[in-house]
Amino acid sequence: MKAINPKLLDKFVKVSERAAYGASLYRGKNDKIAADQAAVDEMRSEFNKIEMRGKVVIGEGEMDEAPMLFIGENIGTGKGDELDIAVDPLEGTNFAAKNLPNAISVLAVTNKGCLFSAPDTYMEKIAIGPGLPKNFIDLDNSVEKNIQLLAQAKKTTPENITACILKRPRHNKIVEELNSLKVKINFIQDGDVTGVISVADPDSPIDIYIGTGGAPEGVLAAAALDCLGGQLQTRLVLNEEKEVNRAKKLGINDLSKKYNIDDMIKGDVIFCATGVTDGDMVKGITYKEDSFEASTFVLHKSQRIYKKIINISKK
Ligand code: FBP
Repeated sequence: MKAINPKLLDKFVKVSERAAYGASLYRGKNDKIAADQAAVDEMRSEFNKIEMRGKVVIGEGEMDEAPMLFIGENIGTGKGDELDIAVDPLEGTNFAAKNLPNAISVLAVTNKGCLFSAPDTYMEKIAIGPGLPKNFIDLDNSVEKNIQLLAQAKKTTPENITACILKRPRHNKIVEELNSLKVKINFIQDGDVTGVISVADPDSPIDIYIGTGGAPEGVLAAAALDCLGGQLQTRLVLNEEKEVNRAKKLGINDLSKKYNIDDMIKGDVIFCATGVTDGDMVKGITYKEDSFEASTFVLHKSQRIYKKIINISKK
């Protein structure tokens, strides 16, 4: 596996710290667009200081929508390694706007051509943690079958399984099935990057994540689970013609393909998530006089790095 230069790791941490700092200035101001824009601006300007030929593969939208950090945008100084980059400068825009827990800034980096360029559509997701047999859960199984198989693999019963699920009406049927199996449910209001990753967090009670959320968020969570050893299966939800066209534009022809982590992330990967508000994974930004403290969850697969970093930087 060609490793991503470990010297770049601290620079990517700085990118996600700056984005989180930008968003933190709008915590509780009930303006999720301004919070997101501040995160994007900080993230982009910090990326552009890094000696690399980076390309945004998952970003804020498509070029014709004219956002910054659009899919296909070149970032970095234009010299150095060729890297593909997925960003979500502010994941949990509502959380930041309302100053609620679990708003984060997230990015993932692979070598060129190694990151799934998912369209900005919905994606079905099912995830479990490390140390379990490979490929026994499947999006095409019934909820009951997946839960029974997971309970068996964990040598327990469905009543002792905890599932994480986004609170959305589209999940009512899954919730009914989980209720009938007496599975415990941890609902989340938003933020399924953290939700999916929680299956691999030894301090979290979550055994399984099920449901449909954003596809970009799915790829970012895949990057983290790849380093942590969990399993994730996904499938794009492409109901409308414009979604199908968006997928095709990104080179996706098999529209009903089920993606495992190694279909989404190939080879080495770096993942960074910095807290904007306090959360399950990391603490939020705190301010000192002319500086701020940021807490980041950092993973680098080839270097077996798995750590939380706290840095104090100038505002
Ligand atoms: P934003 O930060 O872009 O608001 O996304 C939050 C989020 O909850 C994601 O974590 C999740 O994948 C997606 O929204 C779910 O979409 P929806 O709110 O449309 O159900």
